Amino acid sequence: MSPSHRPSHRRPPPRHARLILAVCAGFAVVALSVGGWALASGPDRDVAAVVDANGVPVRPSGTSSAQPRVSIGPAQSGTGKSPSPRASSSRGTHRSVSSKKGAALNPFGAVRSSLADSGVTWYYDWDASPQGIAAPAGVQFVPMIWGAKLANDETLAAVKGRGDTLLGFNEPDFESQSNLSPSAALDLWPKLQATGMRLGSPAPAFGAADDGSWFDQFMQGAKSRGYRVDFIALHWYGGDFDTSNAVEQLKRYLQRTWDRWHKPIWLTEYALINFSNGAEVASPEEQVAFVKASTAMMDGLSFVERYSWFKFSPPKEGGQAGTTLYNEDGSKTPMGDAYRAAG
Ligand code: BGC
Repeated sequence: MSPSHRPSHRRPPPRHARLILAVCAGFAVVALSVGGWALASGPDRDVAAVVDANGVPVRPSGTSSAQPRVSIGPAQSGTGKSPSPRASSSRGTHRSVSSKKGAALNPFGAVRSSLADSGVTWYYDWDASPQGIAAPAGVQFVPMIWGAKLANDETLAAVKGRGDTLLGFNEPDFESQSNLSPSAALDLWPKLQATGMRLGSPAPAFGAADDGSWFDQFMQGAKSRGYRVDFIALHWYGGDFDTSNAVEQLKRYLQRTWDRWHKPIWLTEYALINFSNGAEVASPEEQVAFVKASTAMMDGLSFVERYSWFKFSPPKEGGQAGTTLYNEDGSKTPMGDAYRAAG
């Protein structure tokens, strides 16, 4: 596809195709699946990127003209086309416990020991319940009302016992995610508010600082209806894999969002994936450099309260981008080592 046919990342997502970007145990595996929208509707969805029928990504990204590190094509395994993120042992590596550093995860075998190893102080699992995960001491679970389905009385009553903070809808501005109009999200908001918990905004896929964006409409609506939003949750994916460019772009986004809303920020998903180039994942080396520099940058921004890399856990059922920190057996990727040392 010629670049001129690529839509801007601000274009609303189409409904008829999806891309599953997968990496299995150190090998990049990418599967393109056209048609069907079924996987894209709930907290168990395992789709890292969505593209239209032409393979055009519809998830936000930074700008990049970098060459693909991962080829896009039919499902395959073990092609070794991208550098292998080798596991490492914890011995001899530095570990930092940080109040900002968190884990965005789907449950996996060694989740408890990995949480304990990582130095994170909080985690979430895109769900209202910890899904059976017994968090180690010092690691706080933060429930999420992922979408409209979870905004029911029973679930909202249950989350009150699971902590003092609640995360709102996940990428409601994105059709393959919680897919809510600003007014639909606003109509549900009093139910979340009624928990009395400290409340994070819906986490937009992009545009948190832009006039007229989904998020702008939600926040303006919340203001005029007198609703409470205690902090801003947002996501960011960088398509420029140069470390300093990526850190600058992320910093600018965070700063613009703070300047506009003056509320503390939780960056609940972030990584180096270029969704404007067919969902290309940065190499492990580029990711390691970025994990180090981005966490250092955010540790220095007082208005960034929390951050969590996408993602802490290994790929689910063969899907997901090669940005994993911990493997199924609790061993770490190079990015996991860097994240463990961060903060
Ligand atoms: C989705 C979640 C999913 C997670 C990890 C998020 O973008 O909203 O449902 O569990 O990715 O796969």
